[in-house]
Amino acid sequence: MNEPYTPTTPRPTSTGSSITMKIFICFLSVFIVAQTIGTALFCLYFHMQLDKLKDGMSLNEDFLFLKRLHECQKPKGVESSLLDCKKITDRLKHLLMKRTRIKTSINHRFCLVADVRRHPVAAHLAGIKKGNKSVPVLEWKTTGYAPTNNLISYKEGKLKVEKAGVYYIYAQVSFCTKPAPQAPFTVYIYLHLPLESDRLLLNGLNTHSSSDLSCGLQSTHVGGVFELRQGDVVFVNVTDSTLVNYNHGSTYFGMFNLN
Ligand SMILES: *[C@@H]1O[C@H](CO)[C@@H](O)[C@H](O)[C@H]1NC(C)=O
Ligand SMILES: *[C@@H]1O[C@H](CO)[C@@H](O)[C@H](O)[C@H]1NC(C)=O
Repeated sequence: MNEPYTPTTPRPTSTGSSITMKIFICFLSVFIVAQTIGTALFCLYFHMQLDKLKDGMSLNEDFLFLKRLHECQKPKGVESSLLDCKKITDRLKHLLMKRTRIKTSINHRFCLVADVRRHPVAAHLAGIKKGNKSVPVLEWKTTGYAPTNNLISYKEGKLKVEKAGVYYIYAQVSFCTKPAPQAPFTVYIYLHLPLESDRLLLNGLNTHSSSDLSCGLQSTHVGGVFELRQGDVVFVNVTDSTLVNYNHGSTYFGMFNLN
């Protein structure tokens, strides 16, 4: 009955249980990690499914709306749920109105842009000789390639704007200079006001003399931006209209709208 080894006898069993413990812990940790990953993946999947479901629900709602609308067209449906049908037709009307409003606004804008592009508010005229006598207002004619627009009309040398706005007005007059001019040859652009005296908008002066007895050609160009009202009339006159040269492209008058 000698048991000095009693405490040591269970040692092999103790070592065996610790290995089992280690294996168990290993399994447990692997299981926990797998569980965490699994949960995360499931959450992701769940969210994706939820989104799909939401989309499906909104589609379903649209489908229901269309179905109800279809039913409302039948006389039986109107009787069965009069209030619902009224609501549905009101909703449809609202949707249609919204759509047509957007469409018309787009169409309106497009038409305006197209109109302005196709018909710019502009005029360009070439000088035309009317007899040998001096005239108080220079006269003009339409030219090839120049734009025409019924928002700027022409009558007896004068351009009238039918649309108020900011305009660039320009003129060039070519003329013969005398050997010793007494006064400068001057080009004027006037704004004609029916109830007041005419207003000077622009003028260009030239005092160059010419040694050439027949005709020393010169050109004076003026141009500027002015705010005009509807119905305003502008015209060009010069100090001595008998000196004006009407060769092609030499003498012209025009204007265009800037807004
Ligand atoms: C204008 O003057 C030119 C010569 O300078 C003459 O040949 C012509 O007949 C005149 N025209 C008129 C309408 O007087
Ligand atoms: C040009 O027209 C203005 C305004 O009508 C007038 O006052 C002026 O005398 C004219 N100039 C000439 C040279 O005819």
